[in-house]
Order: sequence, then structure tokens, then C-alpha cells
Amino acid sequence: MLETLHEMGGQAEAGDVIDALNDRLNIPDHIRNDYREMDFGKWGTRRRNPWRQTLHWVRQNAVTRGLMEKRGHGVWGLSNAGRDSLVNAEGGLILIVYETSHGQAIWAEARTAAAHLQQDSVQLIFTSPPYPILNGRKYGSFSESEILELLVGCARDWKRALTPDGSLVLNLRDVWRPKSETGGAVRSLYQEKLLLALAEDVGLYFADRFYWRNPSHSPESCWVTVHKVRTNNDVEHLFWLGKSPTPFANTREVMVDAKPSTIETYLRRGRRGVQGTTVGPSTQNTNFEEQMQAVANGQSLKVIPRNYLEIPNSDTHRKLREALKAAKLPRHDAMMPERLAEFFVRLLTRPQDCVYDPFYGSGTTGKVAEELGRRWIGSDRSLAHVLGSALRFPSVNYGAG
Ligand SMILES: C[S@@+](CC[C@H](N)C(=O)[O-])C[C@H]1O[C@@H](n2cnc3c(N)ncnc32)[C@H](O)[C@@H]1O
Repeated sequence: MLETLHEMGGQAEAGDVIDALNDRLNIPDHIRNDYREMDFGKWGTRRRNPWRQTLHWVRQNAVTRGLMEKRGHGVWGLSNAGRDSLVNAEGGLILIVYETSHGQAIWAEARTAAAHLQQDSVQLIFTSPPYPILNGRKYGSFSESEILELLVGCARDWKRALTPDGSLVLNLRDVWRPKSETGGAVRSLYQEKLLLALAEDVGLYFADRFYWRNPSHSPESCWVTVHKVRTNNDVEHLFWLGKSPTPFANTREVMVDAKPSTIETYLRRGRRGVQGTTVGPSTQNTNFEEQMQAVANGQSLKVIPRNYLEIPNSDTHRKLREALKAAKLPRHDAMMPERLAEFFVRLLTRPQDCVYDPFYGSGTTGKVAEELGRRWIGSDRSLAHVLGSALRFPSVNYGAG
């Protein structure tokens, strides 16, 4: 049905879609013309064609799953997600869609892409994979076991592709288990299961965890807004795993301005800083007197950041959204802020290192890597999103092969 609607330009009268489908499927006349009394329960009996009725249910199901949408009375429409589902790469297909001076964007399913990565070639795999949210995103719905199978399967190849001191960083968030399974608001333990599998089965080393607070997160579910039995959860996790126990990292690249209260404490306590830690090693400049002189002259004091990142994700992609609209390409509904990718690219790679994002989406990681002078690869199973990501770059070469 989705393919038929796509061929009809994305929307059409219900009767026309059904006729086109009947022709496409070679439905014989006696089935097409079989009208009879059908029982509709409390709505009584109606004269209907059972086959057409089945197609109406198929269409209703597609609307519920976000693949089709209502476009006025008697008109059936293909949604962006429906169009996308027609162009998601199957396993085995791998195609470079465009190249920039530093990177390559590839249309491929994550497992296929992982199998093609060169050994010891990638310094950082930084990605925000799909996760098992109940109602699904436009780009798809996944169960807990599907996500675990996908990510653990990929991770074996990712480990092979990482350089000996390379890192994998996964951005994930808490989700609820289906109410039909638990009868209440019960959290999934998929992140914990994934971490255990990555460490114990795949053999990666759990280096650290980060918390990303997005103050613009909307309330997560009816447990918060309607039933009022859970609080707002606006924190996502970033799990950092190394191929070795000593992955490359350089916190000097991600220093942040000290808060005025921290500076006051340093000035008051002298060489011994907050909570007894010396000032020197945790700041860019190890000469304490020079630092304090600079602070006295109004310059900022840089300190090592905490593992808690507060980065809003509101309106950070306005330009891209406008460009996508103009190009009639679907908007991505889970773009991450560039500052989040920038933090990890700076922390865990050097210039010219290679950064890879296997769930590339709208291309945030590639854009950030390019601007920071890193080489990069991005792959995604949605052709529409790979094409849309090209709009982030001032110039790209298509059709590399
Ligand atoms: C959370 S989004 C990534 C968003 C991205 N970080 C950004 O800033 O735009 C996840 C992406 O994974 C892609 N995806 C889902 N399943 C996939 C699979 N099996 N293989 C490759 N890509 C997949 C979806 O098309 C979607 O673009």
C-alpha cells in the first residue's frame, strides 16, 4: 500500500488507491465485486466488500504506526516516516552518497556498515542509536531485544575497527517497559544489559559515564503528566567504552570557565584549591601565581568539566530545518545538539583522527568533526536523512560510488 501511494505522488483518493492496489496485486473480479452484509457489532450490519474492508484496516494500522496520515475526507496520504520506510537500506547494501573534504556519508544498515569498516582505523565511534521507546520515532520502533541484538552485533565489528586507544561513546536514555507487560510505570534495564554485554561479551572497557541534561526536554509520558506518579526525567546518558583500559583522552581540550564562586575559593585558599585538590593539574596553566594574576586582571580561569553536561537542544538546528523544508526532505525528529558531539570529539580525538557515527541521522557528528579538522564517516539506513544531512555542508561531492 505504501509503495502504491508513493507511486501515486504521496496522496490520493481512497478509491483510487484501492483500484491501483487491486491492479498491482492482480485481485480477481469476483473478490473486487463481492459485496455482502457484514456485522459491525454495535454499529449493526452494513453492505460492504470484505477485501476493501481489509484494506481499510491495513490503512488504519499504517496511520496508527505513523506510516500514513489523514489528509481530509476520503484522502489517504503517505507520511514522511512512511516514505522513509520505503527507502531504508536492507542488509548488504552499502553506498557512498556524498563526500566532503574530510568525510564520507554512507547509506547502509548499521550491521552492514560495521562489517565494512577497516581494522584499527577509527579513533572514536560517537553515536546516538535508536532506543526502545514505546511509541516509536518517525524513523522506526524497536523492541528492547532488537536494540540489544543490533548494538551488541555491531559492537563486535566496531571493536575491530577502533584504533588500539580508540573509544566508543553511546548516547542513550531511560525508557519505560510496555504497560501491557508490567501493569505500571516500570523502567527498562536495557542500558544496564547493554553495558554488561559490551563489557563482558564484546570485551570493551567501561571508561566512564556522562549525564546530559537537556532543559528543553518535554515531559516523557502520561505517568508524569496525567497520573502524576513519576517526576520529569530530563537526563540522558553517554556511556564511554575503550578498546583498551587506557583510551586516548585529553581534558585540556574541554576545559570550561570556572564559576565566580570557584575562583573566589581559589583566591581565598591559595595554592590548595577546592576540597584540597591542587589547582595546577586541573587547569590549563600550571603556574598558580600566573593564573591568579590573570584572574585578578579579569581573565577567566579554566577548570576540568564535570561529567554532567547541561546543553539545551532547542532551536539549534533552525537553519537545517529550513533547508530541509525547501528541499522537500523530511525533518529528523531526534537531532542532537552540536555542542554535545563537539565535547566528545574534542575530548577523545586529535586533529586528523577518524570519527564514525553509525546512526548518522541528520549529520550532526559529521558536521562537528569536519569543523574540528577530524576525518569522519557517517552511515544511516535512511536515504532521506543521508541526503538531508548534505545540506549541513557548504559543498559536497555526490556519487562517489
Ligand atoms: C537518534 S537518531 C540519530 C540522530 C543523530 N545523532 C542526529 O543528530 O541527527 C537514530 C538514527 O538511526 C537510524 N537507524 C535506525 N536503525 C538503523 C539501522 N539498523 N541501521 C542504520 N541506521 C539506523 C535512523 O534512521 C535515525 O536516523
